[in-house]
Amino acid sequence: MAAPLRIEGYVIVSEDGMIADATGVMPPSLVVPADQAFFERGLDRADVVVHGRHSQESHTNSARRKRIILTRSVSALKEGPAPLSVYWNPAGASFEQALAMLGVSSGLAGIIGGTEVFGLFLPRYAAFHLTRAAGVRLPGGRPVFPQVPACTPDEVLLGHGLRPGPAQRLDAARDVSVVTWEPMARTGVG
Ligand SMILES: NC(=O)c1ccc[n+]([C@@H]2O[C@H](COP(=O)([O-])OP(=O)(O)OC[C@H]3O[C@@H](n4cnc5c(N)ncnc54)[C@H](OP(=O)(O)O)[C@@H]3O)[C@@H](O)[C@H]2O)c1
Repeated sequence: MAAPLRIEGYVIVSEDGMIADATGVMPPSLVVPADQAFFERGLDRADVVVHGRHSQESHTNSARRKRIILTRSVSALKEGPAPLSVYWNPAGASFEQALAMLGVSSGLAGIIGGTEVFGLFLPRYAAFHLTRAAGVRLPGGRPVFPQVPACTPDEVLLGHGLRPGPAQRLDAARDVSVVTWEPMARTGVG
C-alpha cells in the first residue's frame, strides 16, 4: 500500500501572528534569509506545493515544482498557468482530486499560505513549521489563520491537536526562531 500523503505547513509570522501588513504585502521585516533557506530546503523535499492565488515562492526550483493554486474563479479543477500546476476550488473538488490531476498520491505536500489556505489544512497537518519574528508587529495585517488575532497562532494550533517542538534559532540578531508543531500522538506527550 502506498504511504499516505504527509502535509506540512511553512510560515513566518510577526509577533502578533501576521503574514503580511494591512495592505496585504509581506514587509521586509518578515523577509529573513535564514528563514527563507529553511523554507526552501523544506519545499525541495515536497512533491507538491499548495497556495492561494496571491501567494507564491521564488526559489531556484520553483518552476520544477508541482503546484496547486486555490481560486474561486474555477468551479472545481482546471489546468493552471504553468505545465505542472492546477487551479483548485475546494467547493467543487476534493484535495485528493486536485492531487490526482498532478499524479500525486503520496509523498509530501507543502502548504505555503495564505490565511484561508493555512486554515483549511489545520485538521490535516503532520507538521506546521511556524517561524516567528520577535519584535515585529503588523496591526490590522493578514493573519496566519482566520482565527487570529482573536486567538493567538499557538492557541489555534493547540486547538487542532498540535504540540510545539523545541525552538530553533534561525537568526539571533533579528530574534527569529522556528518551532515545528506536530500532532500530539506523534510527540509522545499528553
Ligand atoms: N509570511 C508568510 O510566510 C506568508 C505566507 C503566505 C503568504 N504571505 C503573504 O500574504 C499575502 C497574501 O495573503 P492571502 O491570504 O490574501 O493569500 P492567498 O491565500 O495566497 O490568496 C487568496 C486567494 O486565494 C484564493 N483562495 C483562498 N482560499 C480559498 C478557498 N478556500 N477556496 C477557493 N479559493 C481560495 C482566492 O483566490 P481568488 O480571488 O482567485 O478566488 C483568494 O482571493 C501576500 O503578501 C503573501 O506574500 C506571507
